[in-house]
Amino acid sequence: MILTGKARLAGVVGWPISHSKSPRLHGYWLDKLAIDGAYLPLAIESNNFENSLNGLKNAGFQGVNVTVPHKEAALKYCDEVDPLAFRIGAVNTIVFKNGRSYGSNTDAYGFIENLRQNSENLEFSTAKVVVLGAGGAARGVIVALQDAGVPEILLVNRTKSRSEALAADLSIGHEGNIQVVDWEKRSEILSDVNLLVNTTSLGMAGQPPLELDLSDLPLNAVVTDIVYAPLITPLLELARSRGNPIVDGLGMLLHQARPGFEAWFSQKPEVTSALREFVLNG
Ligand code: ATR
Repeated sequence: MILTGKARLAGVVGWPISHSKSPRLHGYWLDKLAIDGAYLPLAIESNNFENSLNGLKNAGFQGVNVTVPHKEAALKYCDEVDPLAFRIGAVNTIVFKNGRSYGSNTDAYGFIENLRQNSENLEFSTAKVVVLGAGGAARGVIVALQDAGVPEILLVNRTKSRSEALAADLSIGHEGNIQVVDWEKRSEILSDVNLLVNTTSLGMAGQPPLELDLSDLPLNAVVTDIVYAPLITPLLELARSRGNPIVDGLGMLLHQARPGFEAWFSQKPEVTSALREFVLNG
């Protein structure tokens, strides 16, 4: 690690923050690229968010990543917010420059880049996609799919009012490409699907598994989960055992980190298998 008086500083703001993999991930790139800089875990409570961000800005930080529970507060905090982050309704990356704060959201980019890197045969412009879940994570995924040109998205959530609200909100300017499906019908809509995405917390360590019958899913359909603890969720395990290509959620985390790193430290970082191993074994 190189750290001089001229070091560039960045970090991740969240509460709690001790579980975050981002310091290890950015630390790997800083070391690899021999950059004079540091990326710190910053535990900040909601009632202290604005003051703390002002403090970091005034202390000369290049910027921060923002994680749970501050992504919506970050959108309100920033002086300028890019249109994609507005559509998603959340900011996860802030750059401080000349006393101002610029907010963006790199989750959609991370989601698509992970699929592009790990599922070459997926053709977004003709794909039919099932998205399970309608929380904050689903917003980023759906916006990413829309921008990649996906013509048909089936949105399935336990609480239908939430999927309806999300579909109505995100359909503005993208007429008609999101259809809401009842949670009980989720196993019956898989017969001509090209991509299945789980954005619910089901399958995460400590949560119940996602119950889904994959019998109708074509064997060439890609199955991905944004959960990465465990890396292979029960859904991915089931999909892999019947021969479907799978993409785990760790890649999304690694790819979403790239634009922030480049903005703060002025070098392009790469996602490699060595990085994956390093982050997994931390
Ligand atoms: P995030 O911002 O990470 O997406 P969230 O907003 O809490 O988190 O959303 C969690 C998602 O997992 C929601 O889609 C939630 O469904 P509801 O909208 O019905 O709450 C889904 N989820 C969580 N537990 C679930 C369960 N036991 N069965 C079905 N869906 C579940």
